Amino acid sequence: MSSVQTATVTPARRLLGRIRVPGDKSISHRYALLAALSEGRSELRNYAPGADCHSTLSCLAALGVEVSTSGDIVTLIGRGLRGFRSPSSVLDAGNSGTTMRMLTGVLAGQQFDAVLVGDDSLSRRPMRRVIEPLSQMGARIEATDGHAPLTVYGRSLTPVHYTQTIASAQVKSAILLAGLHTEGTTSVTEPARTRDHTERALAAFGFEARTAGLTTSVRGGQRGTGQSLPVPGDFSSAAFWMVAAAARPGSEITIEDVGLNPTRIALIEVLRRFGAHVDLRETAAAAGEPIGTIIVQGRHTGSVHVKPHEVPELIDELPAIAALAAQSGEVRVDGAEELRVKESDRIAALVAGCRALGVDADERRDGFTIHGSGALSGGVADAAGDHRLAMAFAIAALGADGPSRIEGADAVAISYPGFFATLDRLVA
Ligand code: S3P
Repeated sequence: MSSVQTATVTPARRLLGRIRVPGDKSISHRYALLAALSEGRSELRNYAPGADCHSTLSCLAALGVEVSTSGDIVTLIGRGLRGFRSPSSVLDAGNSGTTMRMLTGVLAGQQFDAVLVGDDSLSRRPMRRVIEPLSQMGARIEATDGHAPLTVYGRSLTPVHYTQTIASAQVKSAILLAGLHTEGTTSVTEPARTRDHTERALAAFGFEARTAGLTTSVRGGQRGTGQSLPVPGDFSSAAFWMVAAAARPGSEITIEDVGLNPTRIALIEVLRRFGAHVDLRETAAAAGEPIGTIIVQGRHTGSVHVKPHEVPELIDELPAIAALAAQSGEVRVDGAEELRVKESDRIAALVAGCRALGVDADERRDGFTIHGSGALSGGVADAAGDHRLAMAFAIAALGADGPSRIEGADAVAISYPGFFATLDRLVA
């Protein structure tokens, strides 16, 4: 997205309060796609309000799916695996990598052709990782040097057993969704565990998927049934508040109704290592997704080293984790080269933004180190059009000696439109 608006963040000694966060982005995309591929009506409550999940809905509407929205409730009338209509124009995934990659898996096995486009950021992100396995299934997808726009020529697919070299839940999901459109069993083996929302959501809509170790299999030709489901609060949005409390001793933030899927909550352990007290209470479960309350109390600031094997389950939390040590303490992250191909080059842009706020930061090919000095000047940080960087810099700036400006702060609309309003409440 082109981000122009600037937010001013004033320092805050501590944060206190009880909040909810918007619906989970990853889960919302999956429920919308699977509702569309099922038969009958689905009602998705607490659907993620950000632009990314609306990109998925508008692509589905262009494919002939009846979609209506009322507040945070989205209703879809599923068309089954083969009921989509050939779109009359390009499908625009906006800034959303999840939309583009998962939809490519769905479109590869249709009986029509479609073109997927994205914004400048999405058009720079690697798509070979999804084109390659789908091509092994017989798909024909044209890209420009491995990038969007993608032209997907729908055709019959054959099952595959694919071993991923990159840990990516988006790619795993694209293959499983394509597998539904084959005659036979498709399986995917991951190099490391990644978020398993697709596996849980498939079961919730009545599609059988089996996971054994790092391999998940799905049989083609199954029929799903529309569902009425709540979307849990987004742990990756909650992460910014968890870090904000953990970085400032004396703070306490309670977050209710947040998703506690075990493949998403590795940040809790990182915050405990840093010195925070984190309490977790599971209060419900819906569609196989645990939901509960998280309480974070800032007690001490220390140092934390995120090692390569921890990265896949922390991938979206790494910008927030950088903000943990902006004021004091130290954070080192290794083995995170995937950050370079997110909505921005998150290693370069994180280090640049931290330095602009007066934080001592080192950049490496596959990671970074943030050294809090105890005194943070504040300054002007550029979010580089990236929602998670805008939020990370805002949290870092809370520890400064004076006001800071975050340029391109409107990028928060991608996943968390109410972010700055909640920030105001927590520092009040
Ligand atoms: C996502 C998977 C991750 C993550 C992204 C959402 C998903 O991407 O960074 O924000 O919903 O499957 P990769 O699959 O590229 O690691």
